[in-house]
Amino acid sequence: MSHKLSFTDGTSIDVPNKELLIDCDDIFDTPITFGCRSGVCATCICRVHEGEENLPPKSDEEIDILSTFKGKEDCRLACQLYCTGDVKMEYVGK
Ligand code: FES
Repeated sequence: MSHKLSFTDGTSIDVPNKELLIDCDDIFDTPITFGCRSGVCATCICRVHEGEENLPPKSDEEIDILSTFKGKEDCRLACQLYCTGDVKMEYVGK
């Protein structure tokens, strides 16, 4: 089973169910830029436009990091995400 991960710039890829985005080969063809890939550097900040319910809940660590970026508290760290349904997001970075 796979899901559609699309971006506000029109890019879209299919991602396998519950596979971490950083483990999906096609993720590097999307607008996201990754740094540490382990939820620390915040390079991968994305704003979710549709399908928030199809993403895992925020960990305490993700909440802590996002809270240090004013106006991005509602965003997500893409390297920490997998999809359980279709999602549309926008890469914003830090
Ligand atoms: S790539 Fe560093 S926090 Fe996601």
